Amino acid sequence: MKPSRFDQFSSSYDELLRDPIRDRFTGNESMFFHRRKVELIRRFFRRRGLSTGRLCYLDVGCGRGELLHLLQSDFKETAGCDVSAEMMRQVSQVPGIETRVQPDPLKIPFGDAEFDLVTAVCVYHHVAPADRGTLTGEIKRVLRPGGIFCMIEHNPLNPVTKLIVSRTPVDADAILLPASEARRLAAEAGLAPLEQVYFLYFPQGLHRYVGHMEALLAKLPLGGQYAVFSGKA
Ligand SMILES: C[S@@+](CC[C@H](N)C(=O)[O-])C[C@H]1O[C@@H](n2cnc3c(N)ncnc32)[C@H](O)[C@@H]1O
Repeated sequence: MKPSRFDQFSSSYDELLRDPIRDRFTGNESMFFHRRKVELIRRFFRRRGLSTGRLCYLDVGCGRGELLHLLQSDFKETAGCDVSAEMMRQVSQVPGIETRVQPDPLKIPFGDAEFDLVTAVCVYHHVAPADRGTLTGEIKRVLRPGGIFCMIEHNPLNPVTKLIVSRTPVDADAILLPASEARRLAAEAGLAPLEQVYFLYFPQGLHRYVGHMEALLAKLPLGGQYAVFSGKA
């Protein structure tokens, strides 16, 4: 199998992500961004009155699997896949989280209709624009009817996000996509629009006190990242 570009980054991943603005934003708490995504996903299900305890969850492009770790106890089954075996090395040893290496970036290594929730977090900006539709079609294939796809991406309309991405070595190949493209990809794959949320407005230190105000800013296209939720009929 051809080594993935991310294999070479895995051993020094934290170091490669370091950026003075990013570090100040997270208060050097590396899990801050992951915890924010957990909150966002839990709130989405709560708003819809859905309990996740009997649902199966797949994180496509799970990398080191932080989100899987944090959400494992919320779901009945938790799985991840990634083109990079090296990125998944540690999470692949965690009991109860099934991981599969993806030899083909455009083929998800799971069967049809196996999952109720699929996430793809900061993956699409590493996928060539011409291939993004195929990957989204694959995500739809592995979703059960009624299943939900949540794409989380860097927001190219946020100048600070753009600056950090432009000087992060891991992102040398990144082509950012706006939320409108995420919505279009979902729609073209036959997924129905559900929700869109812009988030990451406040750094970690402030978030503790004023984080609840992010809900008021969720529709403003200025947060550091966004989440687009869509559903399979
Ligand atoms: C920036 S990292 C994000 C990792 C993780 N989702 C997170 O939020 O920490 C991007 C990950 O996507 C993986 N990736 C890139 N293209 C992919 C594809 N077509 N299918 C699955 N994984 C892919 C990379 O190997 C890498 O682990």
